[in-house]
Amino acid sequence: MKDALANAEDKRAAGEAVAALVEDGMVVGLGTGSTVAWTIRRLGSMVGDGLEILGVPTSYQAESLAIECGITLTTLSQHPSLDLAIDGADQVDEGFFVIKGGGAAHAREKVVAYSARRFAIVADASKYVPRLDHPVPLEVLPFAAGIVSRKVEELGGRATLRQAKMKDGPVITDNGNFIVDADFGEILDPSLLANRLSAIPGLVEHGIFENLDRLYIARSGEVEVIDRPK
Ligand code: 5RP
Repeated sequence: MKDALANAEDKRAAGEAVAALVEDGMVVGLGTGSTVAWTIRRLGSMVGDGLEILGVPTSYQAESLAIECGITLTTLSQHPSLDLAIDGADQVDEGFFVIKGGGAAHAREKVVAYSARRFAIVADASKYVPRLDHPVPLEVLPFAAGIVSRKVEELGGRATLRQAKMKDGPVITDNGNFIVDADFGEILDPSLLANRLSAIPGLVEHGIFENLDRLYIARSGEVEVIDRPK
């Protein structure tokens, strides 16, 4: 309980700290989840003080929060190239590989992050690990859930169809797909696994991101900024 409270405070600290990267005129990708929600709220208050930005939301959650906070939104069709994308993570390792998709939003999050010149992640310190071992969320066509699960098992993983909390049956993403969580235990070579997952038919997007530039990690209220190792 104490840990959960400390993590909640650290989520806020990291989420708010990254807002210092945002400058007038930028087009910014707005991520999904409870940590980056603090970024969106902070950006909303900066907009109230005169900051002029456009936001590209990664989910219905990010969209409605950004609207509530007074951030003007745009689309990738209007702005295919972003200055910066900011998002949360489920896990980040010391090699800067990232697992995302705990909120089932990683397909859009990845499109937005890879459309940006810079990608920053905000997280509490519990997410920063020497080596990834979090299950990898896979967005899959409902029609393909069976073959994707079988292929995951052939790769040595354990596949679980994610179930909804306030609805009977599986989680349905913002894109109308299912989520399969693929547990591989410790992931020794995230790039290799990413390539293998990308080759599975019917798998829309996996949650391994390889384009992180800057990490904001908060521990006991202190935020450490780590740049991608050269
Ligand atoms: C959503 C995500 C989230 O960014 C990730 O799950 C972290 O969430 P939180 O900041 O609530 O811990 O990838 O798909």
